[in-house]
Amino acid sequence: MRKILVCSAKGGVGKSTSAINLSAALNDMGRDVTLVDCNFTTPNVGLYYGIAKVGKTIHDVLNKKGDINKSVYLHKSGTKIIPGNISIKGLKKVRPEFLKYKLNKLNSDIVLLDSSAGLGREALASIDACDEVLVLVNPELPSVTDALRLIRIAKELNKEVIGVVICRKRGKYEMKNHMIESLLDYPIIGAIPEDEHVKKALVREDSVYSLYPKSNAARAYKKLAHYLVGEVFYSEKKSFLREVLDLFKLS
Ligand SMILES: Nc1ncnc2c1ncn2[C@@H]1O[C@H](COP(=O)(O)OP(=O)(O)OP(=O)(O)O)[C@@H](O)[C@H]1O
Ligand SMILES: [Mg+2]
Repeated sequence: MRKILVCSAKGGVGKSTSAINLSAALNDMGRDVTLVDCNFTTPNVGLYYGIAKVGKTIHDVLNKKGDINKSVYLHKSGTKIIPGNISIKGLKKVRPEFLKYKLNKLNSDIVLLDSSAGLGREALASIDACDEVLVLVNPELPSVTDALRLIRIAKELNKEVIGVVICRKRGKYEMKNHMIESLLDYPIIGAIPEDEHVKKALVREDSVYSLYPKSNAARAYKKLAHYLVGEVFYSEKKSFLREVLDLFKLS
């Protein structure tokens, strides 16, 4: 089982959005993937999917007695998720340090963990529970310097840093890719553009990948999902050269 943490030290970078869309893309590729909300204090995954209340949550699982496999919720899109309990009550008994042990009992080939922001107790429990780390940044200096701390901690805990993903890239008045790479000393493996379809999907309570597959954000997540599992990505947008070659094949 691969356990991949989608994380950023800074808040609001795009972790939940990315975790949701990567899960949707991997599921669409036929992979057995489960998305776990590891943002125990402010869980968002369920809300993004329009599920406020489910039978069991990650909070029940981390309340010692919960069976993690009985807490998997199948979303209508086909994505398997373990959401969090949004009530304050659910937070009281949660023990983040159980996460690592409980995750090892989950029946899934790939587990994507949506991390909380910061480097506090719950974020550290998620880093400890995963094997691989996907570091998300916005193309701004504070976001990148915070990522530097996160990478240091992940490396100290012997986690594999897969690479850096730039979220909400607008292309103007922001840090250049080569600056981000040289500061973090890891390659940029994905760039998700700022895209209003992300907000539209949020309102419609599903992933941008499922609702707007042709949008720029959905395409970028699809490409990143392919990278994560080592599959070659062929863009649906045909290049001029490909069109010419295809015409030759037909004649
Ligand atoms: N590519 C994008 N284009 C436009 N809006 C985006 C994009 N990615 C994320 N957003 C928006 O940015 C906001 C924060 O995103 P998200 O909740 O995914 O961040 P987060 O890192 O999980 O935040 P937190 O640290 O609070 O958990 C949301 O309103 C989301 O809709
Ligand atoms: Mg979040």
